[in-house]
Amino acid sequence: MRFSSVVPLALAAAPAVVSAAGTLGFALGDKKADGSCKYTADYEADFDTLAGLTKVVRGYSASDCNTAQQILPAAKNKGFQVLLGVWPDTDASFAADKAALQAYVPQYEDQVYAITVGSESMYRGTFTGAQLLEKINDIKGAFPNVLVGTADSWNKYADGTGDALVTGGVDLLLINAFAYWQGQDINNASATFFDDVSQAFGHIQSLSGSTDKPKLAVGETGWVTSGGTYGSAVPSAQNAQTFYKQGICGILDWGVDVYYFEAFDEPWKPVSKGDNGEVEDETAWGAYTVNRVPKFDLSC
Ligand SMILES: *[C@@H]1O[C@H](CO)[C@@H](O)[C@H](O)[C@H]1NC(C)=O
Repeated sequence: MRFSSVVPLALAAAPAVVSAAGTLGFALGDKKADGSCKYTADYEADFDTLAGLTKVVRGYSASDCNTAQQILPAAKNKGFQVLLGVWPDTDASFAADKAALQAYVPQYEDQVYAITVGSESMYRGTFTGAQLLEKINDIKGAFPNVLVGTADSWNKYADGTGDALVTGGVDLLLINAFAYWQGQDINNASATFFDDVSQAFGHIQSLSGSTDKPKLAVGETGWVTSGGTYGSAVPSAQNAQTFYKQGICGILDWGVDVYYFEAFDEPWKPVSKGDNGEVEDETAWGAYTVNRVPKFDLSC
């Protein structure tokens, strides 16, 4: 495992302080098994299922499927908090998500943990760091009392693409890191994950000169339980459990917040292609089946 700059001190110090354990959250889709939109009652059932493990979930678009409108009352009823998303890639999606936030966040401020603007938009090359900063600052201006940030791939922070976000004073940066998509054998997957996160955190913290500003967390990580192999990465419930026990439980022990990707399988999702051109099935990343049955042991 490679460490750099500020990060080893922060991470090495964490395990000694029990209360500093990280917080576990889950990425949560906004659609049911058939691809139709979830309603408040569906989110309430999701929250009942997740309640033993977490009190926080993250979504991707506040307006898609009327997520903000439907999820916030469920969060209030079940004592959860939500990271709401803005999809900034087009002016239309940005405006629709901002309008949904303006309509529902003020009534439910206690349920809103944070707002993320963009998901891997630097990784896809949609925005530079400076362009994304403008979008984030637009939302921050509308919600000055809410944590606002973004989520992107670890390497886009480590290679400096996201530097403008750090120097621009963004509140929250989420780091996505999938050893699976790096084609890693399960036996090297957690080491790869820790290394990815350490490189991203290290670069950001050495630039900011701080371990708590911006606030950092792992925004997405996980392991798929069925489908094709990707390089040396093999999908199975056994491997997902191994990654969970070593990678997720391990980084929580380090005091790092982490959002597992994802809570429930999404069988409606179309087949897609990975960066290496291999066909990939993205329907089976859930810790639970779409019927809310756990696929492996989720205890730490
Ligand atoms: C195992 O992970 C480390 C990162 O911790 C990486 O440097 C190394 O290349 C990986 N090994 C293989 C065989 O990919």
